[in-house]
Amino acid sequence: MAGEYRIDPWGSQVIREYEKLFKYFGMRPFKEVLPLLEEVAEPHRLMRRGVVFGHRDFEIVVDAIKKGKRFAILTGLMPSGKMHFGHKMVIDQVIYYQSLGAEIFLAIADAEAYAVRKIPREELIRTAIEEYVANYLALGLRPERLHIYFQTNYRKEYYRLIQLFSRKVTLAEMEAIYGEDLEPAKIVSALTQAADILHPQLPHFGGFDVVLVPVGPDQDPHLRLTRDIADRFRSELGLRRPASTYHRFMTGLTGEKMSSSKPESYIALTDDPEEAGRKLMRSFTGGRPTAEEQRRLGGRPEICPVYEMLAYHLVDDDAELKRIYEDCKSGRLLCGQCKRYAREKLVKFLEEHQRKLEAAKDLAYKLVDVPDF
Ligand code: TRP
Ligand code: SF4
Repeated sequence: MAGEYRIDPWGSQVIREYEKLFKYFGMRPFKEVLPLLEEVAEPHRLMRRGVVFGHRDFEIVVDAIKKGKRFAILTGLMPSGKMHFGHKMVIDQVIYYQSLGAEIFLAIADAEAYAVRKIPREELIRTAIEEYVANYLALGLRPERLHIYFQTNYRKEYYRLIQLFSRKVTLAEMEAIYGEDLEPAKIVSALTQAADILHPQLPHFGGFDVVLVPVGPDQDPHLRLTRDIADRFRSELGLRRPASTYHRFMTGLTGEKMSSSKPESYIALTDDPEEAGRKLMRSFTGGRPTAEEQRRLGGRPEICPVYEMLAYHLVDDDAELKRIYEDCKSGRLLCGQCKRYAREKLVKFLEEHQRKLEAAKDLAYKLVDVPDF
């Protein structure tokens, strides 16, 4: 068992030891299912590049795609602070699955942000629509077969799940998963998240028996709990285990964790493009202290946030990325030149993205049922 190793989905630890997730928690490496996916669809950039590194039961998704069976994607985001490139990764995946025909459910985790992060309601609501939903739409999420809802403002069948789930979960098992400092706010948030994940299976919401949850690995405790809950409600409600995938977090531009509370660590989708470019130029890199050393030893793209920006977001062509990687490793490419190249791509991306954003804001308010307090 995991012993002392525990993941706190509400904490701020960095998960570096992905191996532990495989060893202690039964997560599987995504590279095992990548060839299966390749047989039925072109894998997304983040999958081809190992950014999506883990999964549970992804086979059921491949099977659905193969047989042309309907399936759903459910994920959620906390509406706090700015939406940055770290958050963009999960929406990119959602857009990919939408293009494969999936029905999309997006939870705005406002109940959780209010209870656990203690953010005021007015702020949460505005941030959710204008900062998050508007950006999803501007990124290319299509309004068809899309359900975006606030956790505090949804339908009765969803709330009923939370109430029913409470009967078959013990405090001891929740403490084993989440730690001993469990408060009601966290218990309610965890059961709410279980309802988020499982509700698309109810007939009221489309009766999807294949549901995939793409998330960061910090959310895996919720998935483990939810899978157990599904088993316990198998006969009563016909619930099945969800599939899930896990992606690596981005390194902050400072070389440390990317964090919403440190603006110099991230680039937001609404940052002024020129200012964002300057932020990138100031970024930590995997380069060497002098040009001479870099030519001799080569750079270290594997620890470089600039390389991550290119690989995760700015370069879609695999051959082009490979060239950058090799030129960095061999010392042919120096960081100044590499950063200027990345900056140019970034500024262009942000200018285009922000042109779409104004129209997206109006649509966001029309698309989502906004809570009245
Ligand atoms: N807890 C998630 C976070 O901290 C947000 C969330 C709420 C979520 N419901 C979800 C994520 C359902 C995945 C699936 O960001
Ligand atoms: Fe990073 Fe580019 Fe420098 Fe390599 S050359 S370390 S990828 S900034």
